[in-house]
Amino acid sequence: MGIQKEFDLMAVSTKGDDTPLILRKNLCVNVVEPNIKNEISSQKLDIILTQFMEILSKRKKYHIGYPINVCYEHHATLAPLLQFHLNNCGDPFTQHPTDFHSKDFEVAVLDWFAQLWEIEKDEYWGYITSGGTEGNLHGLLVGRELLPSGILYASKDSHYSIFKAARMYRMELQTINTLVNGEIDYEDLKSKLLVNKNKPAIININIGTTFKGAIDDLDFVVQTLENCGYSSDRYYIHCDAALSGLILPFIKHAKKITFMKPIGSISVSGHKFLGCPMPCGIQITRKTYVSTLSKIEYIASIDTTISGSRYGLTPIFLWYYLNMKGHAGLQQDSITCIENARYLKDKLVKAGIGAMLNEFSIIVVFERPCDHKFILRWQLCYLSGLAHIVVMPGITREIINSFFNELMQERKRWFQDGKTKPPCLADEFGSQNCMCSHNKMHN
Ligand SMILES: Cc1ncc(COP(=O)(O)O)c(C=O)c1O
Repeated sequence: MGIQKEFDLMAVSTKGDDTPLILRKNLCVNVVEPNIKNEISSQKLDIILTQFMEILSKRKKYHIGYPINVCYEHHATLAPLLQFHLNNCGDPFTQHPTDFHSKDFEVAVLDWFAQLWEIEKDEYWGYITSGGTEGNLHGLLVGRELLPSGILYASKDSHYSIFKAARMYRMELQTINTLVNGEIDYEDLKSKLLVNKNKPAIININIGTTFKGAIDDLDFVVQTLENCGYSSDRYYIHCDAALSGLILPFIKHAKKITFMKPIGSISVSGHKFLGCPMPCGIQITRKTYVSTLSKIEYIASIDTTISGSRYGLTPIFLWYYLNMKGHAGLQQDSITCIENARYLKDKLVKAGIGAMLNEFSIIVVFERPCDHKFILRWQLCYLSGLAHIVVMPGITREIINSFFNELMQERKRWFQDGKTKPPCLADEFGSQNCMCSHNKMHN
């Protein structure tokens, strides 16, 4: 009976393109008592899954608020690999005791990233993580191991995983203010570095903040450290490049993320710009920094990774994609996304809607829509008075236009009484980006 009920629910929610996916609380496993024949047949399970996939397919073109690329094309080719249990347990560079792993693919992917970020094969160490979060946790763990008494400096716009690392490793934390565009406030950083000069510094640099897509100026931070009297053995820089780490290297005038500069680690997500269908990330650091970690006899590995068992299919998905795309494909995707983000930002501004787009970013920040239903329908991400759209590969101009047209239509309704006015957002993203009546008069 229970099964039938939730079955009906599934059928209802496939109605239109715009129905947000609702959690089906009753979709439980093994609802029958032991020893009673399970009433659910595989045919019913197949129908549930088919309907679930239908909903996801319809909702794809409304997936514009989060940095997920939903356009991975090679799942059919790679699906047969699912029949093998592949586990890249532990360190990717050590011999594995069984054949059921994909560490050779993993190292090939890591080599590709090492080359991208300009560090020699024999000088880097890295692994494929479960995502940008694990990469950040690992990068900061390395920093902490090298400089045990170091203070962690992170801007307040950093991803929550950075603050999680501070809690997990019980690190002393200095939170740094941000400029109105989301970049780290260099003056605040400088004054806090000077006050705490007696302790080493572990610094998180954002190569694209989560909400505003702001890129911290690595060269300027290094210069600030030096000006404040920190020698290179008294600081460690981790670069959180979750999204933009795969965009900036392909943009002509963007500053390079490179190990030629005095950084300790870089972490990037693999499911964001690259669109790997399972969450994953790539973490690269300097080999000398991980050489002191311990050996685990049981799995014949070195305890260098945060997670033990790691999914062996992920490196193959990344490897296949990188080979198929090539630098030219990634460059084209980066350019297209930046152009489409500009297109959306310009459209919003022309229509009198406050909007902001950082240089080389694909995150368009704008005035938060008033209606929560609209936010859910378009799966928008919001923070205080602002919302954003991440113009990923797959977000075409057609999708942008349909979002924009609907927003304009809805705004007429939201502000129809003439009394409700768009709010002032000058404090949140700068008066130059705010289009409230007060700022319009002054700009
Ligand atoms: C700047 C930044 N760092 C880290 C992360 C975490 O990445 P993941 O979701 O891959 O764990 C995100 C996610 O949005 C992010 O924007």
